[in-house]
Amino acid sequence: MLQTKDMLHKLSIWEDYIDMSDTHTSHNHLLSTSPLIQVEHLTHTVTARTQQTTLLNDITFRVPAKSLFAINGPSGSGKSTLLNMLAGIDQPIRGCVIFDGRELKAQSENALAHWRGRNVGIIFQFFQLIPTLTALENVLLALELGGGGGLRSKDWRGRAHVCLDTVEMGPFAHRLPAELSGGQQQRVAIARALANDPPVLIADEPTGNLDSITAHSIFKTMANLTRQEKTVIYVTHDPQLASLASARIDLLDGQIVHADGTTAIVTPLKEVHS
Ligand SMILES: Nc1ncnc2c1ncn2[C@@H]1O[C@H](COP(=O)(O)OP(=O)(O)O)[C@@H](O)[C@H]1O
Ligand SMILES: [Mg+2]
Repeated sequence: MLQTKDMLHKLSIWEDYIDMSDTHTSHNHLLSTSPLIQVEHLTHTVTARTQQTTLLNDITFRVPAKSLFAINGPSGSGKSTLLNMLAGIDQPIRGCVIFDGRELKAQSENALAHWRGRNVGIIFQFFQLIPTLTALENVLLALELGGGGGLRSKDWRGRAHVCLDTVEMGPFAHRLPAELSGGQQQRVAIARALANDPPVLIADEPTGNLDSITAHSIFKTMANLTRQEKTVIYVTHDPQLASLASARIDLLDGQIVHADGTTAIVTPLKEVHS
């Protein structure tokens, strides 16, 4: 027979366990101990005429949940190619991306597009805002296209304002993109990426077109999103910004040549060119 004290102890362990398992099923990405994204032996080549070019060569790494994860490397090193694979926009010829325990390539195009709408917010170097829509309308459009992240349409306006407030753009909600600075436009683009409340944000050189003070302030805003349970994947060719990330990989010629704060298979620099 268990003593009352033991039973209470077991019950409290069980309650903790239930909390954990509930978190695990509904918000798997909240568990910082498990990788949110696993990339396994990812290889990609393109063939133009008879020439085959290797864009990614046997890439293996993990993106920890709730990290600000930098993908660093010079122009042409394969960063955008890799991002397209992580977002399920492009398929590798070998290897796979496992997102929250699910392999991306096992899904149909339609399923992938639907999955992307709910799971990934994408931020581009040149903002890509609709010029004829205000900041607020740009975010509202994302809610309309993405299904509203589980919210009813009557709540979308409120949600769009919250997203703009998160990136300190609340006071500029009714401005057109042309009436905003580059940094402010990028903030609106971040608000738009947050609209449907995806667990992951993917940004391809989001500060590549901005001065370094603005770049640092945008980087800081994105780093703060990890406190709201977001995992932020941040591509940059700026080693200084990459060094501020919580985890990073450095690419060169389609291979990982350095990793920090994560598990990755690293190819020594001297072998990359041999
Ligand atoms: N569709 C393609 N066909 C041929 N080469 C490509 C294609 N896409 C990218 N590349 C080449 O692959 C390399 C990596 O490209 P990319 O991923 O855009 O690099 P990054 O984003 O790091 O600048 C570059 O040398 C680029 O020119
Ligand atoms: Mg690129």
